[in-house]
Amino acid sequence: MSLYVYLEPDRDRLAQVGPQFQAIGCAIVHSMAELEAHLPRYPETLLVIVGATVDLSEVLMFTAYQRLQRPLIGVVLVRRELRPDDVLSCLRAGVREVVEESDWDGLRNASSRSVDLSKALSTTLRSSTEQSPYGRVVTVFAGKGGCGRTVVAVNLAAALAAGGSRRILLIDLDLQFGDVAIMLKLPPDRSIAGAIAMAGRLDEPGLRSVVTSYRPGIDVLLAPSSPAQAEHVRRELIVELLDLARPIYDFIVVDTPALVTDQVLAALDISDWLLPIVTPDLPTLKTVRLTVEMFDMLDYPRDRRLLVFNRADSEVGLTVADVEEAIGMPSAVRVPSSREVPVSVNRGEPLYLTSPAHPFSQAVSRLADRCAGIDTAQTHKRRLFARAGRAAR
Ligand SMILES: Nc1ncnc2c1ncn2[C@@H]1O[C@H](COP(=O)(O)OP(=O)(O)OP(=O)(O)O)[C@@H](O)[C@H]1O
Ligand SMILES: [Mg+2]
Repeated sequence: MSLYVYLEPDRDRLAQVGPQFQAIGCAIVHSMAELEAHLPRYPETLLVIVGATVDLSEVLMFTAYQRLQRPLIGVVLVRRELRPDDVLSCLRAGVREVVEESDWDGLRNASSRSVDLSKALSTTLRSSTEQSPYGRVVTVFAGKGGCGRTVVAVNLAAALAAGGSRRILLIDLDLQFGDVAIMLKLPPDRSIAGAIAMAGRLDEPGLRSVVTSYRPGIDVLLAPSSPAQAEHVRRELIVELLDLARPIYDFIVVDTPALVTDQVLAALDISDWLLPIVTPDLPTLKTVRLTVEMFDMLDYPRDRRLLVFNRADSEVGLTVADVEEAIGMPSAVRVPSSREVPVSVNRGEPLYLTSPAHPFSQAVSRLADRCAGIDTAQTHKRRLFARAGRAAR
């Protein structure tokens, strides 16, 4: 476990100072891309030290983004010389301290101040999220089986958890044939069936007694192990569960069956985000079109819908434009098809957790950002402009 990471693309500098960083247990990465892949994999990271040769505009972009995405991480920047204008832009972007490359003591002090601040912030953030009145309910839905609802739900839950800094409840509402237990390799000992007897008087300890803890920040409410129990899970129980869970969790991700059951409607009614999932094949397209019409009939607000276009890159004769036109809305995120997805399913480990840099995981991460209200499109646009600007110089 490493709380610190040092980004140093300059091999000579790394040969000089690398061993000293390693001696204090600091992980080392050589590029911004490597750093971006490192952070979701090591969620305990509190400090990023950026070496002097990293382009300043990239550092500013990275810092501004991380400030929203992972506010606990402090960035300390090393520069060959300190220019007042640069220091000012750094502080505006949220860089905690800027230190001259030759000032080894200065770097050590700045790093330890930043880590102290992160630890203090961690306590404050936790207590302020604990006071937040409502977790947001995110329901993935498609009237057609096999289009990737469960894969998206489990990976989205992992992405939203942001390494344990948010509390997530993943609910398997595919009450008869739910796959969440298999996809996360969880024992089916506790499930929503345990809540049936508590209906009407469910309380927080009752809820905690039926959820399975998956990893820090992620609890799972599994589907009953026997399909016969599903009919006893009534709509009222779902409403009760969601009402109870909302003050406790930051996000509640709901996986659903391919049917509009009473229980699914209860979840859809209360959802902050509705995620219709579409794949580029005509039967699914038709069903999702009908789903969206149903959302209209039920007056679910359009700005709360995020269309997930799964297997968007499959070359099967339907273009992105065809799909979006048929459904009547643009896709919020395009998730690529990859054989790594079924491999991860068979391994029982969400791809987002084992390969956060995989294009599938990156797409899920963008979806999580949308659900959390973070506009990554703007950040990416800014990044592209910055690159174009650099190329022009
Ligand atoms: N982007 C993808 N790339 C490759 N395979 C995928 C992708 N998304 C889903 N799959 C595969 O499609 C299959 C169905 O996925 P999943 O079980 O998530 O769908 P579902 O809609 O929940 O299905 P069900 O109706 O059985 O509940 C799985 O084997 C999964 O690995
Ligand atoms: Mg499923």
